[in-house]
Amino acid sequence: MHVLHVVGARPNFMKAAPVMHALAKREGVRQTLVHTGQHYNANMSDVFFQQLDMPQPDFNLGVGSGSHAQQTAEIMSLFEPVVVQSQPDIVLVYGDVNSTVAATLVCAKLSFPIAHVEAGLRSFDRRMPEEVNRLVTDQLADLLFTPSADGDENLVKEGIPAHKIRRVGNIMIDSLVRLLPDTDESKAAKACADGFESYGLVTLHRPSNVDDTDSLKPIIKALSNISRSIPLVFPVHPRTRQHLTDLISEDRQDSFRLVDPMGYIDFLALQKSATLVITDSGGIQEESTYLGIPCLTVRENTERPVTVTMGTNVLVGQDMARLQDEVARILAGNGKTGQIPDLWDGRTAERIADELQNWRSRSDSPSHDN
Ligand code: UD1
Repeated sequence: MHVLHVVGARPNFMKAAPVMHALAKREGVRQTLVHTGQHYNANMSDVFFQQLDMPQPDFNLGVGSGSHAQQTAEIMSLFEPVVVQSQPDIVLVYGDVNSTVAATLVCAKLSFPIAHVEAGLRSFDRRMPEEVNRLVTDQLADLLFTPSADGDENLVKEGIPAHKIRRVGNIMIDSLVRLLPDTDESKAAKACADGFESYGLVTLHRPSNVDDTDSLKPIIKALSNISRSIPLVFPVHPRTRQHLTDLISEDRQDSFRLVDPMGYIDFLALQKSATLVITDSGGIQEESTYLGIPCLTVRENTERPVTVTMGTNVLVGQDMARLQDEVARILAGNGKTGQIPDLWDGRTAERIADELQNWRSRSDSPSHDN
């Protein structure tokens, strides 16, 4: 079986790595890795390949940044000849970024079977570019690997035949489980938190929070207030960096520490020792639930509701008074505790590899027929 994986942006890498490792151990499996180049900085891409022990991509499309239409179109036109040349038996796409939907559209039109890892998640908010990417990808995929029961339910409601859906668990947690023991060695994490007895960890990169100063300003003001109670470490995404620096007053800079984006192991090291996390990321809501760290999500909704119903996540939306109240609650020792959801066990990649091999060996494998 020839499996072609498509990755492009930072949150894809920790999802593809465990699947590639699991398939590498199977007999008769050949793998091709395509990096679209959606993320291209060393600290947004290369460091993840090293720390996650991923092979160098067989193809790097080098698309870089652009508007959604430009980026998606560029990936499509550069990916098409690659997939035609490679002739894979199945193409694996991950998560919900523009690279995911672009590769899916190309494969669907050329009738290459598609498997979507992390299918079925829904925020029910189509203003989020990722929600559009998820909806389109799931409609076109032939095999849909879901992380939790809500994913299965969403897909069935959207008319996806049940025989295409496989609940395999949370693939991000595979990388987390494998690399957690390495986090004690992270010098970068120690340097970032140097001098702090305890700290909160912040990440923000959703366009709706960071792309215009009117949205970002009240968030930064609240974080600045919070940094009087607990110092904050903030690895800054390049999208956010463009709008941020002048918003933080100089008197707060000691306890509100802006640092460059971090590698996978280094960020995990910072996260596991944090008192609390404030984020608008999807994956970090899940990682903090696994690690049992209280997480305050600066979004009105989440496509990962299990992190709220079972985990440590609280949605504070744009309500910055609520954010500060929730921080106070955590610092008073009353932060939310939670449980680790079913199938978040580090074995998801093995289940995906089993399913792919079953799919391949079945004569009635789902064809690209709808
Ligand atoms: C993308 C994903 C988002 C994911 C995030 C994780 C989509 C629609 N969005 O958002 O779901 O949570 O990645 O990081 O696919 N930039 C650099 N260097 C890089 C990459 C980006 O400087 O290596 C800057 C550029 O100014 C670029 C901006 O960041 O314009 C945004 O990058 P882009 O890939 O468009 O989206 P993200 O915000 O990173």
